[in-house]
Amino acid sequence: GGAASHVFVVLGASGDLAKKKIYPTLWWLFRDGLLPPKTYFIGYSRSKLTVDDIKKKALPFMKVKNGEEQKVEQFFKINEYIAGSYDSPGDFSKLNKAIEQKGSCNRLFYLALPPTVYESVTLNLKATCMSKSDKWTRVIVEKPFGKDLESSNRLSNHLSALFKEEELYRIDHYLGKEMVQNLMVLRFANRIFSPVWNRDGIASVVISFKEPFGTQGRGGYFDEFGIIRDVMQNHLMQILTLVAMEKPPTTNAEDIRNEKVKVLKSIQPVDIKDTVLGQYVGKPGGKGDEAQGYLDDPTVPKGSVTPTFATAVLHVKNERWDGVPFILRCGKALNERKAEVRIQFKDVAGDIFPDGEVKRNELVIRVQPDEAVYLKMMAKSPGMSFNCEETELDLSYSSRYKDLKLPDAYERLILDVFSGIQINFVRSDELYEAWRIFTPLLNKIETEKPKPITYVYGSRGPKESDEFMADRDFKYTGTY
Ligand code: BG6
Repeated sequence: GGAASHVFVVLGASGDLAKKKIYPTLWWLFRDGLLPPKTYFIGYSRSKLTVDDIKKKALPFMKVKNGEEQKVEQFFKINEYIAGSYDSPGDFSKLNKAIEQKGSCNRLFYLALPPTVYESVTLNLKATCMSKSDKWTRVIVEKPFGKDLESSNRLSNHLSALFKEEELYRIDHYLGKEMVQNLMVLRFANRIFSPVWNRDGIASVVISFKEPFGTQGRGGYFDEFGIIRDVMQNHLMQILTLVAMEKPPTTNAEDIRNEKVKVLKSIQPVDIKDTVLGQYVGKPGGKGDEAQGYLDDPTVPKGSVTPTFATAVLHVKNERWDGVPFILRCGKALNERKAEVRIQFKDVAGDIFPDGEVKRNELVIRVQPDEAVYLKMMAKSPGMSFNCEETELDLSYSSRYKDLKLPDAYERLILDVFSGIQINFVRSDELYEAWRIFTPLLNKIETEKPKPITYVYGSRGPKESDEFMADRDFKYTGTY
């Protein structure tokens, strides 16, 4: 009971994202006492459900520990559920009444919805559900933010006609990851990197995302988007901007995002010639999922040429980066789960050691799993000999920080919305630039339908990608 300070509304409460991410995140924040006191939750979607149904759906993802059962009950006690359609003003009045019953409070609306209903839902929110007096309203949106430059602009224009930019929180959950947030500190709080962080010191940059599973029944959704929209245009581009941007004058959200936009503006659209596109096939003799190729997924249209793997090289045409390849690589159904950044420094000039002995320095930022930052460097082989040996300065989080528990990306980001911190949310001009860079390529793929190179489920992806990277100044002897 009592008046609420905040009401958090999950629109699309019966859906996949809500049960897998949003409710578990709200629960963890509640459990750890991180939310403002007197925060209440309302789920809204079309299905006639109860809070108990929502609980049953979300529980398998909430990682409730022994002894937390009572806390879970408390959490669901401050939850409500309302069934309503996404285009009925009457239903949104019902939602508004339910919020008003909690007193004058700040309002957060999370759009965990298919993009087809974004427009009607936001129109209704604006017309009926905004908070009054001195309280604020914030709207959280998830990708896809359109499918190309045009549809994204249409959505942006629609949203910005309804809400101020400071009311809009566009989530790219990679910006909530520990190591992605670490990039700014590594770059701007270490004197040793700044003099070499440019075309004189760096030969190439590789940003990779690998996943060991395929579409897992999401083939219908995935096929409309493909790996370039699903991961490269958003998650990998965000990492690229943090690696490549100039130092912002301060750490405030506008200063940081201004720099991100500037670096994006220096990138030319990706040419299809600067890509390797792949699609997975089932593993011969494989069991279960791994035997299923992309085209074997019944929800994927027959003969689809949608890439499930892509490598692309981008060029940042500015004084710092001219000539340095930025290679983005991402794929599904590969041999491992991994996301990492590799900054490969130039070869030592005037090398005095035997041919081939000295390897390049490389700074690796491993985003997941097993967060780490390590610098590959040469040292003398210990002992009598005078050989060079490659070794690492290694900051592996699990050994450096005992009992470390890093928050989930969504926990950080949702808490930031409560606090009004927009640093790790995508501004509309960033979105515009990211789509500008990829739309010509996406159009070309859709009109010319180039056949992707096939690779086997569970492999490292097409070998053409490795060759492509080697041709673009990424020298590597192991696997990556
Ligand atoms: C999502 C993509 O944005 O990111 C998914 O739509 C992908 O296809 C996911 O699996 C990966 O996120 P994470 O945090 O598991 O690396």
